[in-house]
Amino acid sequence: MTTPQMRDRVGLAIDVAREAARLASHMRADFSALGIETKGDPRDVVTIADRTVEEFIVSRLNAQFGDDVLGEELGRTGTSERLWIVDPIDGTYNYVHDNPRWCVSLGFVLAGEPIIGVICSPASGQLFVASKGNGATRNGAPIRVSGDRFGTQPLVEVGASSTKPITRYLEIVERLMRSNIETRRLGSGALGLTQVATGETDGYVEDHIHPWDVAAGTVIVREAGGHVSDFFAGGVVDRSGPILACTPSLRGRLEALIGTPTT
Ligand code: IPD
Repeated sequence: MTTPQMRDRVGLAIDVAREAARLASHMRADFSALGIETKGDPRDVVTIADRTVEEFIVSRLNAQFGDDVLGEELGRTGTSERLWIVDPIDGTYNYVHDNPRWCVSLGFVLAGEPIIGVICSPASGQLFVASKGNGATRNGAPIRVSGDRFGTQPLVEVGASSTKPITRYLEIVERLMRSNIETRRLGSGALGLTQVATGETDGYVEDHIHPWDVAAGTVIVREAGGHVSDFFAGGVVDRSGPILACTPSLRGRLEALIGTPTT
């Protein structure tokens, strides 16, 4: 892909993420019309807004360059190697509760490799943008992982998928905390990755997460100097599995505690 083709897609993704976030925020204002449903597990919720916002994103991304889209709610269009992987609302449980920690996440993969990431968090007014080889920004300013400045007091977010038993989540939290690593769980994997990229946390781990939660964040963390495990190993874009993202100096310690994620 040429530099102008990549730049055009970044520009499009920024516009679409902002508009999608506005649409989702607007729809959240009428709680009675959200049409909350569960996808099996009571903690795995979906709303009319998730589907409506994804329809909007798919139509916009598909119309401009004819790229395909894989989304959380509507599945995949086409078989092209130019693929957007999108989560219309990441952190849906928070969104339903009017907790501000949710976002729109748009990742672009080329032949299975994530190369563009755009995440819009409307409640915090943050827009994260990254593309391979061009660095990562928050609201236009460059961002960087924490380095080793919190060497003895690391902070790591541990995600938990509602589609899996809580056993492994509890085991990871216990191992980290017994090793004096402070943990959090804030309910949006995509925003969890952006906090690794800004250095607000030193790592994000989850035993089972979906591609739409991590496609954009993977590019953002890597371009901010961080390590992300090979979630899209072998160019496979449509499977879920474990992820580890962190400041490089913490990688060995985290892998020793929880194992090396392989999808
Ligand atoms: C979920 C969130 C959560 C993570 C789960 C995801 P959703 O996505 O990102 O933080 O732990 O694995 O499925 O359902 O809110 O889009």
